[in-house]
Amino acid sequence: MRSVSQPPLIAKKTEFQNALLAWYRVHQRKLPWRTAPSLYKTVVSEFMLQQTQVKTVLPYLARWVEVFPDFKSLAAASEEKVVKNWEGLGYYTRARNLHKLAKALAALPVIPETREAWMELPGIGPYTSAAITSISFGTRAAVVDGNVVRILTRLTADATPFRDSASASKALAPLADALLNHDEPGDHNQAMMELGATVCHRNNPLCTICPVLKLCAAGRSGDPEAYPKLAAKVIEQRAVSRVWCLHKGQLLLHRTAGDSRRLANMHELPAAEHLGLAESVFTGPHAKLLARKKRGITRFAITESIYALPASALTKDSLSRDGLVWVATDAIGTLTLSGPHKRWVAELLLSEM
Ligand code: ADE
Repeated sequence: MRSVSQPPLIAKKTEFQNALLAWYRVHQRKLPWRTAPSLYKTVVSEFMLQQTQVKTVLPYLARWVEVFPDFKSLAAASEEKVVKNWEGLGYYTRARNLHKLAKALAALPVIPETREAWMELPGIGPYTSAAITSISFGTRAAVVDGNVVRILTRLTADATPFRDSASASKALAPLADALLNHDEPGDHNQAMMELGATVCHRNNPLCTICPVLKLCAAGRSGDPEAYPKLAAKVIEQRAVSRVWCLHKGQLLLHRTAGDSRRLANMHELPAAEHLGLAESVFTGPHAKLLARKKRGITRFAITESIYALPASALTKDSLSRDGLVWVATDAIGTLTLSGPHKRWVAELLLSEM
């Protein structure tokens, strides 16, 4: 029989799978969705872990399963309570999607077990469907996220230039599928994520302790950090002026409209535009710069300048704009604020004392 030549890594697929799984069995972190697994914990953790690191997620997950122990209780909860329990994790669309998913699952006679059926559910995409069904039902679906892209391009020293992480994930899906361990797809996927998170770091990867160094073209060549070849993100600088207006024990906040894509129903310190203020107000005699805060959201590097303004400097017209609310300082904790604003308000209230 004529033998068809295969790429070197695929030819050594079993060796790769065995080395990876043996390493994972010994070195995996003991995480709550692994030590006492359930479909519910897997789903919630996968939603929380999109864009957020494990160590940040752990306290949120612990509280979440206390407040909403299963899909049924989550489906029955108000959106406000769901978002409140996500407060500080960011990217709140994830919380709303998880809520929608719980409602959709609660309405089904049986929970589906195939990747295709999960793909039809709200908030579920190629990554989450593969992660959830492989871990919970042993479905043969390989996950591809940023960690997996890094591992695969290093294993094969793949110098393809990718526009962004999403297009790299798509291009590498066939290789991820070809390497998937069909006997243990869930553990294989989690082992890939674990290797990416704890060994195959973006910078300074720990190649000396890597279980698959022998099979890794980039690791052996000595320049693993050269992969993947992702186009540098174009970061846009933005400046936002915010108003700190404390009047008779009440703080002026802005509540984003409920149908907004980002931050729906969440409170933040009002920006100049929420009050219809010209930037010149902030260089005028009434304004005092209290703090400058920097943060990154997706591709934006934002500098937020928070200015104290007395209520007397704001016109009736400004104060009657949509979304503005006066909140007693001792009631702020009952509202949902976005994570940075919660911290800034706490800090500035302390400095008022
Ligand atoms: N990131 C996303 N899913 C994960 C999982 N199951 N374990 C560790 N890190 C993850």
